[in-house]
Amino acid sequence: MRIIRDIEEMAEVAKRYRRKGKSIGLVPTMGALHQGHLSLVRRARRENVFVVVSIFVNPAQFGPKEDLRSYPKPFKNDLALCRKEGVDIIFHPEAKQIFPEGYKTYIEVQELSDLLCAKSRPGHFKGVATIVTKLFNIVQPDIAYFGQKDAQQGVIIKKMVKDLNIPVKIKIMPIVRGKDGLAMSSRNTYLSAQGKNDALVLYQSLNLAKDLIKKGERDPHKIINSMRGLIQNNKAARIEYIAIVDSDNLKPIERIKNHCLIALAVQIGKTRLIDNYLIT
Ligand code: PAJ
Repeated sequence: MRIIRDIEEMAEVAKRYRRKGKSIGLVPTMGALHQGHLSLVRRARRENVFVVVSIFVNPAQFGPKEDLRSYPKPFKNDLALCRKEGVDIIFHPEAKQIFPEGYKTYIEVQELSDLLCAKSRPGHFKGVATIVTKLFNIVQPDIAYFGQKDAQQGVIIKKMVKDLNIPVKIKIMPIVRGKDGLAMSSRNTYLSAQGKNDALVLYQSLNLAKDLIKKGERDPHKIINSMRGLIQNNKAARIEYIAIVDSDNLKPIERIKNHCLIALAVQIGKTRLIDNYLIT
C-alpha cells in the first residue's frame, strides 16, 4: 500500500492505471475509519483492480463553531485497517495544497444543499461538493463509493455528477450499525458510555416509524410526532429535525410511499448525530 500526499503524484499514478485500462474505485473519507467506511472499501476492492481511499479532514465543510480541530485523526490505525483490506493507495493530501491561499472556486448544488442538515450547517454541502469534485478530478475514478448514513450527501453528489456530466459511477452502500443498532460514525468517539446508550434513541425512533408504517400508518406528520415523543422522553437528546421526504429531491411528502426517506438529526449532549431509514 502506497501513501501519496502530493496531488500531481496521485493524478499521475491514477493516469498510469487508467492507461492500462484498469478500473479505479475511490472511497472518499475523513479518516477515523470504522466498519461503515470499511464496508465501502470492501465493495470497492471487489469491484475494481485499483482501490484508492482518500483521507482528508476537509476544512471547507466545517462551520466556524464545529469540530474541525477536535475531529479524531487516528491515522496509523486507519492505515493498518486499509492495509488489511488490500487498499492500493491512501491519498492523504495537505489542506494547504488542496485549498492554497487565494483559492476561489466552489461547487454548489442548489436547493438540495439548503434543506435538512444544511439548516444547522450552512455551507456544509458546498464544502462537500467542492472537495468531492476535486477528488474526482484528481483520481478520475470509474466508481466512487459513499454511505447511505449521509443520505443528503449522497443525493447531492449524485445530482452534481449528473448535472456536471462527471464521468463517474456513484454507488451508495447501506448503513452499517453496531450490534445495538447505533449507526457507526467517527463522531461516536465523542460519546461517553451513557451517551452511546442515549444515542440509541435515534435508531429506536426509526424502528418506531417502521412499525407504524407496517401497521398501515401513511401520514408523515403522525409518524414524525410519534418519533418526536419517543426522543423527547430522553433528557439527553435535543432534536434538530425529523423529516420525511422524497428520497430523490428531499422535499417533504404528504403521504408515505416508496422512495421516501425518514431522516433525523439529534444532539446527544454536545454531539450531533444523524440517522435515516430509506423506504425503497
Ligand atoms: P466520512 O464521514 O469520513 O464518511 C466517509 C464515507 O463513509 C461517507 O460516504 C459516509 O456516508 C460513509 N459512512 C460513514 N458512516 C457509515 C456507516 N455507518 N455505514 C455506511 N457508510 C458510512 O462523508 C464524509 O466523510 C465526507 O463528507 C467526504 C465525503 C469524505 C467529503 O469530505
